Amino acid sequence: MARITASVYTSHVPAIGAALDLGKHTEPYWQPVFAGYEFSRRWLTENPPDVIFLVYNDHATAFSLEMIPTFAIGTAARFEVADEGWGPRPVPPVIGHPEFAAHIAQSVIQDDFDLTIVNRMDVDHGLTVPLSLMCGQPTAWPCPVIPFAVNVVQYPVPSGRRCYQLGQAIRRAVQCFDEPLKVQIWGTGGMSHQLQGPRAGLINREFDNRFLDRLIADPAGLSTMPHIDYVREAGSEGIELVMWLIARGAMDDAPPVVRHRFYHVPASNTAVGHLILENPS
Ligand code: DHB
Ligand code: FE
Repeated sequence: MARITASVYTSHVPAIGAALDLGKHTEPYWQPVFAGYEFSRRWLTENPPDVIFLVYNDHATAFSLEMIPTFAIGTAARFEVADEGWGPRPVPPVIGHPEFAAHIAQSVIQDDFDLTIVNRMDVDHGLTVPLSLMCGQPTAWPCPVIPFAVNVVQYPVPSGRRCYQLGQAIRRAVQCFDEPLKVQIWGTGGMSHQLQGPRAGLINREFDNRFLDRLIADPAGLSTMPHIDYVREAGSEGIELVMWLIARGAMDDAPPVVRHRFYHVPASNTAVGHLILENPS
């Protein structure tokens, strides 16, 4: 049977991708950001998953405002790197896992979560920047990746509670796949940031660190936090953090092992948060 071994949480700041692509990651501004992922890159090599289930948000790249799925699972064999206005990032294409993705869609939809099935889409910085942070600059990503896109751009966006429960349904789906796959689930986006309006540039270290504490120790309680608290405390784009609850819901009920925790301000307009949690067994 397949099983979820660990979850990874990370911000997806597009400027991080640009820093890496342009060779600026050793400059004084960026060095502390990448230093926070040195352990993680080693950890990923030492604990290689067979598949990464990557929860992220599209930024009006694959889905324009014409069509906005709340939850969309990528079932393709391959996903191209999107052109977000400056040409596609010079990173490898994403190889999917159609059979496993179709199984998860089947199981989760039968479990009452109505997913959109996507057989073709390009993936933007929401997905490729977390891969770059965790893998560096390889010629191919280390394993197949199932992209799972969540609408956190156009309201109404899903509640934290719905995201957490969806994670639990994904856990059940993984556990009934009849192949011994080691699966990691990644929750991405966040932390506090606001990109527009009078509060642009907002950062809230206290909120972010409390969010990390509660994600580790009290995810069910955290999942009941209403949207307004994210937006008021963590800025309009801080709402991306609901995606972290999907990954957390997919973890075992037993307390996780905290393998790594990192927090840094600033990276472009955002706070960077990062966690690696392992399942105890
Ligand atoms: C920035 C952050 C984001 O999450 C994003 O999607 C776009 C821009 C920023 O910090 O500039
Ligand atoms: Fe974003």
